[in-house]
Amino acid sequence: MPLPPNFLDELRARTPLPPLIGRKVKLTRNGRQWKGCCPFHNEKTPSFYVYDDHFHCFGCGQHGDAIGFTMGTEGLAFREAVERLAHEAGLEVPKESPRQAAREAKARTLHDVLAAAAEHMQRQLRAPEGREGLDYLRRRGLTDETIERFGLGWSGAGRGALAAALKPLGIEPRQLAEAGLVKPAEGRDGAYNDFFYNRVMFPIRDRRGRIVSFGGRILGDGQPKYLNGPETDVFSKRRTLYGLDLAREAVFRGKADLIVAEGYMDVIALHQAGFEGAVAPLGTALTPEQMEEIWKVTPEPILCLDADAAGLRAATRSAEMILPLLGTERTLHFATVEGGKDPDELIRAKGPAAFKAVLEAKKPLSVALYDLMADGRPLGTPEGRAAFRNDLVAAAGQIPDKALAAEYRGALLDRFFQNTRRPREARPPAGTFNRSARPGFRPPPRLPPRPAPELEATRKEQARCLLAITLANPWLLNEVEEAFALLDLPHGPPAALQAALLAWHAGLALTEASDGSPASLDSADLVAHLHRTGLDEARNWVIRATGLPREAGPDAQPGEALAGWWHFFGFLRGEGALVEDLEEARRELEAGNPAAQARVVSLSRTLRAYRSGETGLEDGAEGASA
Ligand code: UTP
Ligand code: MN
Repeated sequence: MPLPPNFLDELRARTPLPPLIGRKVKLTRNGRQWKGCCPFHNEKTPSFYVYDDHFHCFGCGQHGDAIGFTMGTEGLAFREAVERLAHEAGLEVPKESPRQAAREAKARTLHDVLAAAAEHMQRQLRAPEGREGLDYLRRRGLTDETIERFGLGWSGAGRGALAAALKPLGIEPRQLAEAGLVKPAEGRDGAYNDFFYNRVMFPIRDRRGRIVSFGGRILGDGQPKYLNGPETDVFSKRRTLYGLDLAREAVFRGKADLIVAEGYMDVIALHQAGFEGAVAPLGTALTPEQMEEIWKVTPEPILCLDADAAGLRAATRSAEMILPLLGTERTLHFATVEGGKDPDELIRAKGPAAFKAVLEAKKPLSVALYDLMADGRPLGTPEGRAAFRNDLVAAAGQIPDKALAAEYRGALLDRFFQNTRRPREARPPAGTFNRSARPGFRPPPRLPPRPAPELEATRKEQARCLLAITLANPWLLNEVEEAFALLDLPHGPPAALQAALLAWHAGLALTEASDGSPASLDSADLVAHLHRTGLDEARNWVIRATGLPREAGPDAQPGEALAGWWHFFGFLRGEGALVEDLEEARRELEAGNPAAQARVVSLSRTLRAYRSGETGLEDGAEGASA
């Protein structure tokens, strides 16, 4: 008596392999999987690997799941192993009800019907009737071996041909209808029409290799190009991936990456070219259910997409669909086929090496996501940039794992700040600091691109003071954020802290927008953020330094802190930029913004000091706040 597949799936899901196997085999971590010495053969060096849902020995070839392991190591029969594991997992082994038995039997016969139909179609392809189809497939570069391997066939010409051919096997039209191979003829009671005719046929198999439906391609240019079988008791389009049975094998054997392509022919061409881990959805966008199937096979599949507009739209939709499903043990990569080709066309035109290069250029989701989201965004205005930044933070917020979401937010915002912090000539900074639009304005000379070592050391010190003030007074970011983002701080701890502070502040801005209450620029929260981002050491580099300005201390008044911040900001900006900032602050003051007063005073003092060769570090705080 067979057990229901969903019970067995539940049992497997509730029986994590590493602890089960760990009772018998000493396992050590090896990246995402575990390894140890194989219990099925005698060995001294470990070649036995344990993955999430299966084990595999590269020495003796043994592999299987929790049930197989228990059978093999305990000498139990299937049923006994299931009972043992179910007991440990706290599951009841279901007794078969008559209704279940009937459903099982029916499903078995549906599979049998589909298998018989597939065999018939395969024979037809080799018969004179299917000659055109066979020629078509060969013209598309498929070898006979490939055609055989994928079980490709010829539908026949319709008009009841399939039913007639299968009748001698005792298969009724009603069963063909349940299998999705024929449909009731309109207006003719009890009569059926073939679902597929004049098409080359692609049997669709489930992950275990059982045929569940078919896709059919028209020869040449007719419409629809592909027809997929309807939903049936054994076929759910959103749960099925074409090629998964073969891909799963290849990936388990360590022979291939799992590649998600777009269509039937891509899967077949990839397979023939040696990329045996290829799968494709069935004419719809990738679904969450399909992702779950894929992640059962590998934690890092590669989504391969065409670079055309439709491909990019599909990629964006897939990336967004996937975010709420991500975890630390399951992600994906993106690879793009350029030049308006699909993998099948690329391999035909340029060979397998060209596709290998595509795979090697794959990007992790965090990178691809930024590129997809940035595509076509107007980033020339504060509004455009702010909207984009909000979208990035919102995208990261879709990830359920808190730590992972924080990592994504950091990574996306780091890219954002890198990309929007341009060299001054390339693009005028917007908002408060926009000044280059004035006619007759001559850009001031810039600092030499490669500063002398002592200048570099000075800049590092100045940056340390600025960061110390910022860390002690995180609220300052509300006032100075845009100016802060403009600074080109030295590499290492200064630049890393700058990016992290901006990312943290941007993340808080969103919290504020979504729940209405003002976000708190809380020191403890900032410290935690820096810790999460791996910046403890950078923070220590700042706060443990001696000779920090008084504004970085606990007694500084807000006004002093702000003035001190602008002081070091001025020195870090350099003379040319200082002149511009000062002009801008003066214009704002004239335009009636009283807040610009402090900036005018501080900037003109800094400019004088700068011109007389000071570095701003001589008298630290006093210089700024006196
Ligand atoms: P494509 O139009 O990109 O086809 O559709 P393709 O795979 O490159 O096919 P060839 O190379 O022209 O033979 C990609 C996938 O979308 C589904 C099919 O699953 C196809 O493989 N599709 C496409 C349909 O379901 N119906 C259609 O009419 C077209
Ligand atoms: Mn194609």
